[in-house]
Amino acid sequence: MDQSCAPLWEAIVEYANKKVISFHTPGHKLRSGVFPHIDKILGTSLWALDASDEVEDITNNHSFKQVLKLAETLAGELFNSYAARFLINGTSGGIHSMLLGLTGKIVIPRFSHQSVYGGLILSEADPIYLAAKIDSEWNIPLPPTFEEIKQVLEHGKNIETIFLTYPTYYGTTTELEKILKLKKQHEVAIFVDEAHGSHFRFSPELPESAVDLKADLVVHSTHKTLGTLTQSSLLHINNPDLEAKIDTALTVLQSTSPSLILLGVIDAVRRELALSGKALVENAVRLGNYIRDRLKCIDGVKVAPSRITNDPTKILFNLNEIGLSGLEVETRLRYDYNIQVELSDYYNVLALITIGDTEQSVESFLAAVDDLVRRFSGNKPLPKLSVPYYLAIPQKVFSMRRAICSQSEMTTLSQAENRIAADFLIPYPPGVPVIVPGEVISSDLIDYLKSCYKNGWEVRGMREENLMVIKEH
Ligand SMILES: Cc1ncc(COP(=O)(O)O)c(C=O)c1O
Repeated sequence: MDQSCAPLWEAIVEYANKKVISFHTPGHKLRSGVFPHIDKILGTSLWALDASDEVEDITNNHSFKQVLKLAETLAGELFNSYAARFLINGTSGGIHSMLLGLTGKIVIPRFSHQSVYGGLILSEADPIYLAAKIDSEWNIPLPPTFEEIKQVLEHGKNIETIFLTYPTYYGTTTELEKILKLKKQHEVAIFVDEAHGSHFRFSPELPESAVDLKADLVVHSTHKTLGTLTQSSLLHINNPDLEAKIDTALTVLQSTSPSLILLGVIDAVRRELALSGKALVENAVRLGNYIRDRLKCIDGVKVAPSRITNDPTKILFNLNEIGLSGLEVETRLRYDYNIQVELSDYYNVLALITIGDTEQSVESFLAAVDDLVRRFSGNKPLPKLSVPYYLAIPQKVFSMRRAICSQSEMTTLSQAENRIAADFLIPYPPGVPVIVPGEVISSDLIDYLKSCYKNGWEVRGMREENLMVIKEH
């Protein structure tokens, strides 16, 4: 197909140019002037592009559906999938759609994004969790290894699906190629959350993309690493048997009024990537390698090795040697140097380099870290967290869905022993749920949560020292 055209984007722009007099939604009637204060910031073209589902494409009968299909086919071709779908609720929406229609046993690493738990709640699938393991040097959760997946498949019965995150938010990749070889023997489907890896296809210096490796379903946030608008993602289908199921799920879960701007920009960016994606991503890789090499030369800065992240555009580093926590580095970069990083935890900071970076942005970042180190050098190293991570998986009594549909009440931590959780509790770091709805709260877990609270450690889902449990009748 001709990757130099962007049928959906062009049809939206054409329609805007026609200046059709609208007696139709949306209420702004595609014209600027209704909200002059907003126009000042957004400019005037945004409204005209924000039609509901009208497009001007004569060859495709002015049909939005036909033009969208064409745009999705071009995306599938570029990313090497059997079929692609444009998403307007991010990778979260894609993950929900992947899981919605599942009923059997599904293997899931406990260190999964919250949307995976959301998808499980929507589905009738029965999760088998893999406990997170923490890298002892970097203190970050690791993805399950090939051996762990092999063991669970060899010992578990009737497992139908494996759900993996590749790469993790920290940029760690599991041995996906080897894991995918287990598919046939064990007759399982493998779904991949590649939220942070949509750029993989565009450089041989990056891990191989899960789409190229032929996982059955892959979803990735093109908005995170490839520059489409926030909330837009791509879902790739490699197993044709799943195509109809995915379409049903998308019909259930996505808006019937998708933003043409979000969709059109996916198409327009896809064209740019087809024409110059390799050069753009390779430039980001070059800048990433450059930053890492320079950071490694600054005394007091520790940069994660490829064992932890083999994607050069993810700069995971820390200043623990000079006493700064990751959280403090993030705050100081933001308020002292006007730099915002992607994430931080007690120990580490993750900075992302993408196709949007320039030599100048990279030099500003390096100068800031250099200055920060100069200001704090000589300080004592950061003390290790006194509380070790809690990685045990509690006993399950109810499915998550049954738990969240049950009546709940608030109780104090001290009174929560043996009660059934009605909400997730997720300490940061490491971002792994210590309990999910429907699981039993043990005394060990209460002790752990109390020490988190005492140490001022954020636990998402806690309300001060209280938590939600299922009401007993
Ligand atoms: C690992 C992982 N998966 C999925 C998501 C959801 O992606 P989106 O923001 O595109 O919905 C995120 C978002 O941060 C993520 O980190």
